[in-house]
Amino acid sequence: MSNNNQYCPTNILVTGGAGFIGSNFVHYWLKEYPTNRVVVLDALTYAGNVENLKPAEGNPNFRFVHADILDYDNTVKLLREEKIDTIVHFAAESHVDRSITSPDAFIETNVKGTHELLKAAKTVWLDENPSMSHLFQHISTDEVYGTLKPNDPPFREDTPYAPNSPYAASKASSDFFVRSYQETYGLNTNISNCSNNYGPYQFPEKLIPLVISNILESKALPIYGDGQQIRDWLYVDDHARGIDLIIRKGKRGEPYNIGGINEWANIDIVNLVCDTVDKRLSESEKLKKQYPNAPVCLGKKARELITYVKDRLGHDHHYAIDPTKSNSELGYKPDESFVTGIDKTIKWYLDNEDWWRHIMSGEYQDWINQQYEK
Ligand code: NAD
Ligand code: DAU
Repeated sequence: MSNNNQYCPTNILVTGGAGFIGSNFVHYWLKEYPTNRVVVLDALTYAGNVENLKPAEGNPNFRFVHADILDYDNTVKLLREEKIDTIVHFAAESHVDRSITSPDAFIETNVKGTHELLKAAKTVWLDENPSMSHLFQHISTDEVYGTLKPNDPPFREDTPYAPNSPYAASKASSDFFVRSYQETYGLNTNISNCSNNYGPYQFPEKLIPLVISNILESKALPIYGDGQQIRDWLYVDDHARGIDLIIRKGKRGEPYNIGGINEWANIDIVNLVCDTVDKRLSESEKLKKQYPNAPVCLGKKARELITYVKDRLGHDHHYAIDPTKSNSELGYKPDESFVTGIDKTIKWYLDNEDWWRHIMSGEYQDWINQQYEK
């Protein structure tokens, strides 16, 4: 600890840094703390993309390592070599629908992988360098709390865990392992449980980027069930700021919830995205030329693409975060409004056509086709 009792990391290992939130976090951190060393460890699964890290390329304080968190020996070597004092652990299988069709990978990466990482941290930080100040910052989700019933208050840090999907169960399990390393061995840890993120570099299997990219190709916009499920949406940079505050000011061993105070039913979000894309395209001849298959170019409205499909199995109806603790202890509150955040996000996807087209052309397309063949 230094600087008014704040913890100040020097050399950070970001696992899963080539994914959506991890890459946004890397860019945030290099901008806020340009003298820190930032090392990304990522296995580059279907969800990882080195393109996401392009803005960091050439920065002498940045390094990318292609590796798996399941590889304990490699992590130990890397922690020693780079003198890592802080691990920010994003690496995970993150998509609920995939956890329903293929849960095994979720146990491997989210449970076993997190445990291999904890073991490596214990070896280097506690066994080899017991006086070293260190932090294992574990990135978790509000899905561990399960679903809110109609009169339930929003999730607090003491809401009992009740995970419903295999994804949520694997994250809950990883949270318990992190907790156990704090309680049993004295590893310094924090867990943050965050609500739904959106923003640049999100893989278009998740609702918001899926809807944006499908509109541009006039493809159906699948709404699960009645579309009345509610999520609490947060712009990804606001998540990065929340993690930063926890790292610097959080009480070790304490969980912190991070949320957007921004609850929306799925169908309302899809309508908002439809109208915003229509508006942006109708105002720009350049965009109309770039996206000739978009509904406005065919004399239609994006909302016409909305298609109600079979509901997700075990679909959680409602998530919402009570942000009192992170607000009162850390001074956290989100900066971005949903309307400006959605507009920025849509602009990013419109400007980065190659990025999402490349993703949509490969393994993802095979996977999504299989979903609809069933
Ligand atoms: P993502 O799927 O976009 O990225 C995951 C990254 O982890 C990818 O780069 C992938 O290559 C990497 N990875 C997967 N398995 C790995 C392994 N075995 N070894 C090393 N790297 C591996 O995920 P995301 O949406 O950015 O989520 C990041 C973290 O935040 C996850 O832990 C997730 O549970 C959590 N979270 C996500 C959200 C959200 O809305 N997306 C909200 C709250 C919490
Ligand atoms: O709450 C945090 C979680 O948010 C994270 O832990 C997960 O990693 C992240 O993927 C996200 O989970 P969700 O299941 O809430 O996100 P997704 O974008 O998959 O779906 C959002 C809502 O939209 C959900 O109610 C399901 C619905 N949906 C999703 C898709 C992909 C649809 O109606 N149609 C779709 O095609």
